Amino acid sequence: MKIGLGCDHGGYNLKLEIIKHLEAKGIECVDYGTNSADESVDYPIYGQKVAEAVIAKEVDYGIVCCGTGIGISLAANKVPGIRCAVVSDVFSAKMSKAHNNANMLALGERVLGKGLALELVDTWINTEFEGDRHLRRVNLIGDIEKKYNK
Ligand code: RB5
Repeated sequence: MKIGLGCDHGGYNLKLEIIKHLEAKGIECVDYGTNSADESVDYPIYGQKVAEAVIAKEVDYGIVCCGTGIGISLAANKVPGIRCAVVSDVFSAKMSKAHNNANMLALGERVLGKGLALELVDTWINTEFEGDRHLRRVNLIGDIEKKYNK
């Protein structure tokens, strides 16, 4: 499995922890920036980079971090085909894959402790999409995109 990661300055330190954690498990990581916590940058740039890498199949999944996880998830979700879930509890991390087939996860460095953040990552990665009626619903999300991207 190959995971693309991106962040703004507010999520930089959490992104480094996630990369260290995933690489220790033998999961390949591709880092799409930013590369510092000290320089203020704009989160949409990094949400878009990772989202486009997922859609281009450069990576299997994306994980993005900013201060809250919200801004970068909103940006990623503008790329057609992306379902980026911002989560801060284990149940939602699990359901975001099991029911919503989220292909990106967004986390907030200013919201989460490191231990919980890494547990959210593990839960999401290790959960399978359940398909069936949930596939129908995920496809309906795709239909909304098609309607507005004409
Ligand atoms: C940056 O200060 C902060 O606004 C950003 O990291 C994020 O929390 C936005 O949603």
